[in-house]
Parts: sequence; C-alpha cells; structure tokens
Amino acid sequence: MKKILVIHGPNLNLLGKREPGVYGKTTLPQINSVLKALAAKLKVKLTIKQSNVEGEIVDFIQGAENKFDGILINPAAYTHTSVAIRDAIAVLDIKVVEVHLSNIYSREEFRHKSLISPVASGTILGFGAKSYTLGLAALLDLISAK
Ligand code: DQA
Repeated sequence: MKKILVIHGPNLNLLGKREPGVYGKTTLPQINSVLKALAAKLKVKLTIKQSNVEGEIVDFIQGAENKFDGILINPAAYTHTSVAIRDAIAVLDIKVVEVHLSNIYSREEFRHKSLISPVASGTILGFGAKSYTLGLAALLDLISAK
C-alpha cells in the first residue's frame, strides 16, 4: 500500500472562517475527510499533519524519506518565504506535489513567487478545496509512473 504524507502549513487550521471569499468555506477537517475518503477508495495510506511552525514543517519533510512514497504539501505563506522548506524538499528522493487553494498568480504580487515550485514535481492551484484531491490524484499518478 502506498503511503502519502499530507502537510498543511500556517493558518490553514483556520480554513472555513479565514477569508472565505479567497479560500472558501470548507474547513480543514472537511478537506481532510474528503482526502481520507479518496485515499480509502484508491487504497492509499494517508498521514496528515498541520503546523504553523516553519521548523516543524522542515522536520516533517526530513522524516518522510524512507517512510512515505510521496508528499502533498500546501506550504501556505511559507511558499513565498521559506528557503528552509525548499531546501528540505530538494534533498528528498520522493515525489512532492505542491497545492494551493487560491490562484497565487492572480493575487498580490508578493504571492507570485513560489520558492517551492522549482523543487516540487508539480503544482496544482486555484481550484479551492478541490486542489487537494486533484493534487493527491496527480501525486499518485506520478508515483505509479516512476
Ligand atoms: C495559500 C496561498 C498563500 O499565498 C497563502 O499565504 C496561504 C494559502 C493557498 O492555499 O491558496 O496561506 O497557500
């Protein structure tokens, strides 16, 4: 059975009440249960983590090598700032798919640059909560094509 690590970055624990006009009304527990249902259907084991702390996210990524077949990550605001998360991903030998609920390229200019995209296998963005299920399907596709 394939094993996938899902990482949600800072402030995503507030989804549902956080800028619903941008991120929608779906809560993080709702996103996680949809992901778990899809994983069960596809016979994949999911481990889901959320952190508001950059170093903790680096630790999750470092710990994934040899334990998981791939990582689905929404680095949230750290997308635009974190060399540490980017470097942790760059070391990995497993597939990483970056997801965003919003289309970061249609928003403020400071969101237009992702430090993560160059080291991710692929990026899915702009589909709201659906970015996660599309991202999981894309990640599994990449893993099985390997
Ligand atoms: C986000 C986009 C980021 O710019 C923002 O800081 C987030 C969420 C998204 O999913 O659209 O926290 O990653």
